[in-house]
Amino acid sequence: MNHETFHLSAAAAEIYETQKVVAIFRPLAQATIERINVDPRDRVIDVACGTGIVSRVLAEKHPSLARIAGIDLNQSMIEKARNLTRPGPTRIEWLQTDVLDMPFEDHSFSLAICQQGLQYFPAKERSLAEIRRVLEPGGRLALTVWSGASPLFLAIAGALETFIGREIAERSLTPFTFNDKDHIESLLSGSGFKAVSVSRITVDRKVGPAGRSIPREIASNPIAAEVEARGPAIMDKIVELVDEGLAEFRDGEGFVVPQESYLFSATN
Ligand SMILES: C[S@@+](CC[C@H](N)C(=O)[O-])C[C@H]1O[C@@H](n2cnc3c(N)ncnc32)[C@H](O)[C@@H]1O
Repeated sequence: MNHETFHLSAAAAEIYETQKVVAIFRPLAQATIERINVDPRDRVIDVACGTGIVSRVLAEKHPSLARIAGIDLNQSMIEKARNLTRPGPTRIEWLQTDVLDMPFEDHSFSLAICQQGLQYFPAKERSLAEIRRVLEPGGRLALTVWSGASPLFLAIAGALETFIGREIAERSLTPFTFNDKDHIESLLSGSGFKAVSVSRITVDRKVGPAGRSIPREIASNPIAAEVEARGPAIMDKIVELVDEGLAEFRDGEGFVVPQESYLFSATN
């Protein structure tokens, strides 16, 4: 995924769910939901819901919420979200739409959560204003973006730079580069949100043995095809260097690596 609008295949949605949601997006959703006060009367919108992990965790923790709606640009993500949804007291509405074009009435929701979505929206301030439009007066926003690349991705980028080149290494870090806290706070204020504040959430990511997990991690990054085209010997060298680079995080056969997010809170 890059900073532009992008389209994902069904296979990419499957990899996203099995690799990234299990490893990091579910733990982040759990940690975020622990931090915000959720009321049973809340009507929640999960913006850029992907395969729906925030909505699914919400429904697990708060089974009788008044409303949950998840929206995402990619139909493949929405279909995966729908297939993963278990029946429960709160039916989750899944909808494919651009954040700029959400077909909801003004003031439809009391809480908006956007987990790792803002960095991908081409028109960020307009997207935030649109989220504000669907929130009731006094409604709350909780939004996370990575505060930077974790040691795992820095180690992978370092190995890519050593064995392939700087440009591909930089591209592998794209999801982490939209992380200027002051800029994001001013985007939120500029789009009309009030009481903007920021805190940090660190999630420990479990990473399996390097030989198995690093090729998979690279396979779910947009630079995958270029790395694989270099052949298995280069991949082996990358794995070896990442394994060394993560030595301080070793835990059994694998690693436990911290990954930090900013959590922005604001009200409408
Ligand atoms: C890193 S994923 C995060 C997904 C989900 N929130 C999670 O935590 O697993 C970013 C998501 O943003 C979605 N997205 C990107 N641009 C969008 C847009 N303009 N409107 C709505 N969703 C968008 C993508 O389809 C993708 O599912």
